[in-house]
Amino acid sequence: MNIVVKKNYEELSQEAARIVIRKMKEKPDCVLGFATGNTPLGLYALLAKKYEEEHLDFSQVSTVNLEELFGVAREDPISFYYYMQKNLFSKVNIQPSHIAFPGGLEADAQKACREYDQIAENIDLLIVGIGSDGHIGFHVPSDIWKRKTSVCKLSKSERDGYEKKTLHVPDFALTLGFESLMNAKEIVLLAAGAEKAIVVRKIVYGDITPQVPASILSLHSRITLLINEKAAAFL
Ligand code: PGA
Repeated sequence: MNIVVKKNYEELSQEAARIVIRKMKEKPDCVLGFATGNTPLGLYALLAKKYEEEHLDFSQVSTVNLEELFGVAREDPISFYYYMQKNLFSKVNIQPSHIAFPGGLEADAQKACREYDQIAENIDLLIVGIGSDGHIGFHVPSDIWKRKTSVCKLSKSERDGYEKKTLHVPDFALTLGFESLMNAKEIVLLAAGAEKAIVVRKIVYGDITPQVPASILSLHSRITLLINEKAAAFL
């Protein structure tokens, strides 16, 4: 695993943007795997800025997002589509038909999962932030690996969090399976801040276990762990 430590969050975001832009120049019709969460926000802001200032071209790019709440309309502010639209997609020239999320308009969750496994087969570059418990997407600590795109029941605290923001509180989310994640040609795992230092240590030195879902990505042949100094405190 290639480990890159940057001084602070700004420099980490700049490095992540550099990696994405390099991929877009090398392969203009690349498939980018994106996640929501706090850590990639700096990256998305930099990509949007690069489009505005230098017309970085997204017209041939396709994106595959890691997760979505099931049965939630795209326009609902709690949807992950809404997050991506707000932070990146509405600010660049990506084609709406090139944007993929699990679920979509499908009413049958299992069918939606099988469809997404096909759609998300060929990710060129996956960029994902790690949660402080090691989660990625909706892969939370558990005793099994979810190999295929799966239906995940939301916890009570997750539902309570959504209850304040929407009338239609979802019960489930869909998340892209580990087979598709590990099939990505290249992965960049992001972590910033002191609250990520313990999980970063587990990923670098610890066991590969579904109790630390991101740990399995360390087996990938082209993975960069891109962190800031605070997240690297226990290495
Ligand atoms: P989270 O995702 O914000 O959902 O915990 C991880 C991250 O991007 O920090």
